[in-house]
Amino acid sequence: EHYGTPRGAACYSSTDLYNWKNEGVVMEKGTIETFERPKVIYDEINRKYVMWFHYDGNGYTLAELGVAVSDNPRGPFILKDHYRPNGHESRDIGLYVDPETRTAYIGYAADHTNRTVRMVELSADYMRTTSNDVDIQAHCEGPGILKKNGVFYLLTSQCSGWTPNPGTFYTASNIMGPFASHGSPFIGDAGNNSYNSQPCYIFKIPGYKDAYLYMGDRWNGSGRSASQYVFLPITITADSTMEIHWYKEWDLSFFTPERKRPAR
Ligand code: GAL
Repeated sequence: EHYGTPRGAACYSSTDLYNWKNEGVVMEKGTIETFERPKVIYDEINRKYVMWFHYDGNGYTLAELGVAVSDNPRGPFILKDHYRPNGHESRDIGLYVDPETRTAYIGYAADHTNRTVRMVELSADYMRTTSNDVDIQAHCEGPGILKKNGVFYLLTSQCSGWTPNPGTFYTASNIMGPFASHGSPFIGDAGNNSYNSQPCYIFKIPGYKDAYLYMGDRWNGSGRSASQYVFLPITITADSTMEIHWYKEWDLSFFTPERKRPAR
């Protein structure tokens, strides 16, 4: 996020999720006062990397989406626009590309200071929000999205600033809702605080079957540079329940490798 020097969005790269290389700041925040929750997706048709993020002032009252673009994931990303989608407040965001349709969506903590969560569809080049924008009847922040067997799962935190709280997962058969709430997926979460983390993103790990990675921010009180990440495997059970168990240590052998196509 926006702390550290130079300030802006930092990029780390990895080929195995264990070893990470610091690629530096890929977008400097310049005069943007609050720059949070950057997410990047790749537009395969135009070969552009598109970043969406929370663009705000120091008091969190602008409540806008920002969009920036680059030819390279290592940047530099150039700011293209910032605004309230269809006039709605927007703070924490979850950016999601449907793997089957390649259509992209942003789930965003919206009006009345995050009292609602909205889902907005993006244009085909991922550069603009469209007017397909609905209130999905949730109250939360930090939205992460995954899809399995035609069911969409939305994982969120509640709203308590930098202090962690119990997460909630929702399910729907259409990404635009309606979503049903199912409570916390964090199993045996003694602190009732999502293992001291806040959902940031759900990453589908390539090369493994149904391998979804929970990426949570452990803000350590303030969201500054002492913040850490919590990475845990997400399990979707046969009855469409999301479960996240605590493991002090785990590795990718947790997941089943996808069968490689036989060589011709
Ligand atoms: C969190 C939110 C962060 C940041 C913080 C400010 O709940 O997820 O991105 O906005 O509040 O207090």
